[in-house]
Amino acid sequence: MTRCSSTQHTLIAYATRAGSTREIAHFMGNIFIQHGKPVEVLEVKAVKHLEQYDALLLGTNIRAGQVMPEILRFAQHNAAWMPRLPKAYFVVCGTLRTDTPDTRAIVEAYLEPLVRISPPLSKGLFAGRIDPQTMDLPWRLILKNITEGSMTPGDFRRWDLIRLWTESVVTRLEQGAALMSIANQMAAV
Ligand SMILES: Cc1cc2nc3c(=O)[nH]c(=O)nc-3n(C[C@H](O)[C@H](O)[C@H](O)COP(=O)(O)O)c2cc1C
Repeated sequence: MTRCSSTQHTLIAYATRAGSTREIAHFMGNIFIQHGKPVEVLEVKAVKHLEQYDALLLGTNIRAGQVMPEILRFAQHNAAWMPRLPKAYFVVCGTLRTDTPDTRAIVEAYLEPLVRISPPLSKGLFAGRIDPQTMDLPWRLILKNITEGSMTPGDFRRWDLIRLWTESVVTRLEQGAALMSIANQMAAV
């Protein structure tokens, strides 16, 4: 867990199966810290409450064209609270190993179930990693023969692009939090 102490902070919550999304979430957390922004990075299953956070970054890997069920459950469970938070979503997958308008459209559609619950300020679409060593024998044998498409083994993460997007999100979430605070104050008058 990455944590920078303060009373106000952003939550980065993620789902992963083989660890590449976790590494990306912590990389993002360190960028928040470099910008002096308090942040907590947690696997989504470990998040107890959203009320203590000012902004949310939600990320998931993809399997069989789906976001992870625990991310969806989290969003459904917090559906009433999510609209109150400035938020961004990111997805980590194999499809974006080839980055074209068509693959971007496919990957953006992966996020639709979350977007329907509460639309984000920004969406980060990233290529991930398929490492046969993290999988059991049947998968290792299958992956040995795959050389193209979303299941191609390799580490396709573009840390430069992840950094650029995260830096833009630091600013957008901060602006979003400021706007929401003003709106809440006006509603209370
Ligand atoms: C069994 C399996 C199914 C996958 N299905 C898809 C898929 O449907 N679409 C896609 O773009 N990537 C797919 N991928 C690629 C993963 O999303 C990618 O490897 C991601 O980086 C994994 O994240 P993780 O290491 O956090 O688990 C799949 C990977 C595996 C192992």
